[in-house]
Amino acid sequence: MDNQIAEDLRTKINNRRTFAIISHPDAGKTTLTEKLLLFGGAIRLAGTVKGRKASKHATSDWMEIEKQRGISVTSSVMQFSYGGHEINILDTPGHQDFSEDTYRTLTAADCAVMLLDSAKGVEAQTIKLFQVCRMQNIPIFTFINKMDREGKEPLALLEELENVLGIRSCPMNWPIGMGSDFLGIYDRINERFDLFREQEQRELFELKDNDLGSQEVKELLGESRSQQLQDDIELLDIAGDPFDIDKINEGKLTPVFFGSALTNFGVQTFLDEFVKLSPPPSARKSTIGMIDPVENKFSGFIFKIQANMNPAHRDRIAFLRICSGRFERNLSVNHVRLGKQIKLSQPQQFLAQDRHIIDEAFAGDIIGLFDPGIFQIGDTLTVEGNFQFDKLPQFTPEHFAKVYTKDALKHKQFQKGLYQLAEEGAVQIYKTFINHTEDMILGVVGELQFEVFQHRLKSEYGVDVYFQRLNHQFARWLKSETKIDPFSLGSSNCLLVKDHYDNLVALFESEFSLRWMMEKYPNFRFQTINNED
Ligand code: G4P
Repeated sequence: MDNQIAEDLRTKINNRRTFAIISHPDAGKTTLTEKLLLFGGAIRLAGTVKGRKASKHATSDWMEIEKQRGISVTSSVMQFSYGGHEINILDTPGHQDFSEDTYRTLTAADCAVMLLDSAKGVEAQTIKLFQVCRMQNIPIFTFINKMDREGKEPLALLEELENVLGIRSCPMNWPIGMGSDFLGIYDRINERFDLFREQEQRELFELKDNDLGSQEVKELLGESRSQQLQDDIELLDIAGDPFDIDKINEGKLTPVFFGSALTNFGVQTFLDEFVKLSPPPSARKSTIGMIDPVENKFSGFIFKIQANMNPAHRDRIAFLRICSGRFERNLSVNHVRLGKQIKLSQPQQFLAQDRHIIDEAFAGDIIGLFDPGIFQIGDTLTVEGNFQFDKLPQFTPEHFAKVYTKDALKHKQFQKGLYQLAEEGAVQIYKTFINHTEDMILGVVGELQFEVFQHRLKSEYGVDVYFQRLNHQFARWLKSETKIDPFSLGSSNCLLVKDHYDNLVALFESEFSLRWMMEKYPNFRFQTINNED
């Protein structure tokens, strides 16, 4: 490659930042995303990023689902430029449309922003998403939101990060008061005050001589606030974790930022530091070793397939994360699983509002490919070489139902639909061990997936199905050094089933029965994520 071209490619790739925001519903993800897009100039008006508002009121009416999917899809990936960086935000659907896609999206991210509501701290959905990030060892940046409201004490929030998530933290800025008493933040990196003013205004004051006890600071914050700040910062300096970029990159330390997305406070400070500290696309594991984003020609993998994005066309879009090189329209690539050359002629990229046809994209970017039914989750596309990226993990569902077709004559289509949707990664299917009854159990991560599944079987395969919901809540892949004989377990506390790939899975109705089984079989591993062959 010509040196200049190679250098240009390196610069373009190194300027890319691809991340997902992980949070519990209502922490302020939509609001924060919107503010970030405003800074990037990708949208002009606040209130443009819709999405969760609609899905909060999800009903069983399919049109409603379709509408929500339309909305959430436009925000599946959002790209914008900021300070010389190209930023890709991956959406992680929450609420009822929380699904395996939500988890899988994280496999396409180079880092994550963990957003917490200062009054709620670490919540259930955040924990789940955090665990997936941890598994990938990606850096996690924390933004503690809603400082304009009464919340938990900042030190208590840091303790929660450590106690609940097991991650050390390093506050990059520190709040001065909260709620109606919120004065702003002290920026520890730049040693300055960023003061909270009405109407999204801010005022910056540089700290002189590193003296938080100065008369000037007392006048700025008041006697008691300045004393409190001085004590807090002293404590953090002595007892807190020092900033350490290596630990951040390993996902062992999270830099913490405080702010208020709604009032647009602390968001820009966060974004400025984030683009500096967050990693560009890095090398990724494959069957032939690490694939370097710059040295290797185009390659990527499919991490999500969205069907019926446009109800008028009934199309399917496969989302591909580019892992190396440059992509251009009409590129011929090797579809490794099928062993076939294919031409990628209508690649799409996503802005806050629209998707549009693109001419080029680079490692770190996400592109949407029209899918005539040839892609599966985890498929690798390459220009050079026959390698495949590491298999994407499967996650345990939390809702289960037996599924039946209403029309026995349509059994074949029923089976076909079931297996295709399982392969696409939309649902997980299990079979009980007693073959002659042919019980098929459907497992999903989010409730809404049942309805989506029912609708898709009807519209795409012409099959009417009904469910018999099960009380089970937990699934664990059972692994052991020695072969497990399912019939020897004979536990009435769980239901033993086989997954799509014939792996043994145990379904439990309660945590109690799960623990009972774990104690009874200490040599078994009870996995929540299946990432082993
Ligand atoms: P989500 O996408 O994570 O579910 O959260 P979203 O941004 O929709 O925010 C949830 C609620 O929290 C919204 O209020 C939003 O206005 C509010 N919010 C977000 N950031 C802040 C913040 O920094 N400070 C305060 N005080 N509130 C914040 P809502 O009443 O549910 O909706 P809306 O009627 O205001 O849109």
